[in-house]
Amino acid sequence: MTDIVVLGSTNMDLVAYVARAPHRGETVTGREFRTVPGGKGANQAIAAARAGGTVAMIGAVGSDDFGARLRSTLAASGVDTDLLRTADGASGTAHIVVDDEGGNAIVVIPGANGQVTDLVPGDEAVIAAADALLLQLELPLSAVLAGAEAARRHGVRTVLTPAPAQPLPPELLAAVDLLVPNEHEAAALSGIADPYAAAESLLRQVPEVVITLGAAGSLYAARDTKPFTVPAPRVRAVDTTAAGDTFVGALAVAFGEGRPMEEAMSWASAAASLCVQRTGASSSMPCRSEIEDA
Ligand code: ATP
Ligand code: RIB
Repeated sequence: MTDIVVLGSTNMDLVAYVARAPHRGETVTGREFRTVPGGKGANQAIAAARAGGTVAMIGAVGSDDFGARLRSTLAASGVDTDLLRTADGASGTAHIVVDDEGGNAIVVIPGANGQVTDLVPGDEAVIAAADALLLQLELPLSAVLAGAEAARRHGVRTVLTPAPAQPLPPELLAAVDLLVPNEHEAAALSGIADPYAAAESLLRQVPEVVITLGAAGSLYAARDTKPFTVPAPRVRAVDTTAAGDTFVGALAVAFGEGRPMEEAMSWASAAASLCVQRTGASSSMPCRSEIEDA
C-alpha cells in the first residue's frame, strides 16, 4: 500500500445549488443548501485513502462544531488524524455556488488553516516515512515550503497542486517533483494559455507536470520525454467540486503502486469521472472497487 502524507487544508464547504450563479449586485433563489466536509488537503487525503492508500493528514481544524465534523469525516475514511491540530477559533470554510451545468465559484475563508505556518515536532518524521507528500496552496506558503523541503531532505516525492493559483517562490518549485495544475493554474504560473506550451515552460522549474484539462482529460510532460494526453471518460457532470483533488489523490496511490504514469493517469481519470457525477467534495469521492469497475 502507498504511504501518503497530505499537508493541507480542511474546510467546511457551505454549498448553494442554483440554476445559475448570480451576477454582482443580483440575488437569485437557489434550490438547496448543504454543508459538506471539504478543503483541498482533506479532499486529497480522503480520495487517496478511499483509493487504497495509507494516508496521514497534517493541518488544522478549528475548535468549533465544524472542526469536529471535519476530523471525524477524515477518520471515517481511514485517514490518520493524529497530526491534525485543533486550533482555537473557527474552522476553514468554503462558500460555494454550484450551477446547473455542474460548474462552481468558491470563496475560501482560511480560519484554522491560516494558523498552520510551519511544521511542528513529529510532522517531519511522518513525512520522512512516506512515499509521497501531497501539497496544495490553502495553507500559508511558509508551511507548504517547510513541508516540501522536509520531503526533499528525506527523498520523499512531493506533489504540488498549485491551487488556488498564486505566484510561487522559486525555492518552493525547486522542492517539487510533480506539479499538477489545472489549465487555468498552468496558464497563471507560466503566462502561457496553450497547455502543451505551458507544460514545456513549467518543466524549466519542475521535472514532471500533469495538467488537468477538465472533461478533456489530462496532459503529462516530463523532461526528455514526449508529452501525452489521457482522455477522461465521457460522463454527465453534476458538480465538479473536488474533481482535481480526487484526481491527485488517486494518482498518488496509483504511481505509488508502481504503475506507469499513463496507466496511473487513466486510473485517476476514472476516479475523477465518478466524483463529478456526484455532488459535494468528500461526499463524491469513490472507493477503490468503484474505480476498478469504472
Ligand atoms: P476542481 O477545481 O473542480 O476540483 P480542477 O479545475 O482542479 O477541478 P479539472 O481539470 O476541472 O480540475 O478536473 C480534474 C480531472 O477531473 C480531469 O482531468 C478529469 O479527469 C476529471 N473531470 C473533470 N471534469 C470532468 C467531466 N466533465 N467529465 C469527466 N471527467 C472530468
Ligand atoms: O478543490 C475543492 C475544494 O476547494 C473544496 O472542497 C473547497 O473547500 C475549496 O477549498
